[in-house]
Amino acid sequence: MSSEIKIAPSILSANFSILGEEVKKLDKSDCDYVHIDVMDGHFVPNLTIGPDIIKSIRHITKKKFDVHLMINPVKNFLDSFIEAGADIITIHHEIDDNVIECLKKIRKKNLKAGISIKPNTTSHSIKKYLDYVDLILVMTVEPGFGGQKFLNSQLTKISEIKQIIGNRNIELEVDGGITLETAKKAVKAGANVLVSGSTIFKGKNYQEKIIELKNQF
Ligand code: DX5
Ligand code: ZN
Repeated sequence: MSSEIKIAPSILSANFSILGEEVKKLDKSDCDYVHIDVMDGHFVPNLTIGPDIIKSIRHITKKKFDVHLMINPVKNFLDSFIEAGADIITIHHEIDDNVIECLKKIRKKNLKAGISIKPNTTSHSIKKYLDYVDLILVMTVEPGFGGQKFLNSQLTKISEIKQIIGNRNIELEVDGGITLETAKKAVKAGANVLVSGSTIFKGKNYQEKIIELKNQF
C-alpha cells in the first residue's frame, strides 16, 4: 500500500440527516481528508452547504477539512470558511474574483490553498497559480452533482498538470466519478489525492471501501 495516495471522501453523498454520525465514521477510518462541496446554485446548478454546517461538524474530527468552493464570487465568503475550520480551501479558476488575491488571503491565514479547473478548462490555465497553491484539483465531471461518470477526456490533462507541477510541493487531486477502476487511471496519470463520494457512501462500510481504494496502490 502506498501512503502517497490520499483518499478524500466527499460528504456530498453522505446521509445529511445524520451528518455528525457520518463524519464520526470517517474520523475512525483511514481517510486522509474530509472533502466538503460548497455550491451556490449560480456557479454550479446545485445548492449544498455553507460555513455554519461546516462549523457544526468541526468538533467531530481532527481530519483535515478539504473545502471545495464552487461559488462565484468567493472573496467575501473566505473569512467565514476559514473561521468555520477549513484546513484546505480550493477555489475555481473560472470565477470572476481576482483568484490570486483570494489564494494569497487563504495562505495568509495559514491554510492550504487550492485551485480547481472544470473539464473544459485547459491545463495551461493553472500555470499562473503555481506560486500560490498547495493543491490543484482537476474536475473529472462537470461540477454540481455526485454520482456522475468519470470523464476519460481529463486523463491527458492530469498528466500535463503533473508535468507542469514538476518537483514543486503541490498535490494533484481529482474529483468526480472515482471508482476502483477510474482511481487507477487517475493515479497512473499522476493524481495523488482521490475525492470519492458515491463510491464510498453507497456501501455500508466506508472504511472497507477506503482501504479497497488505497490498497490498489
Ligand atoms: C461534484 C463534487 C464532487 C462529488 C464527487 O461537483 O465536487 O466532490 O461529490 O462525487 P462522486 O464521487 O460521486 O462523483
Ligand atoms: Zn468536490
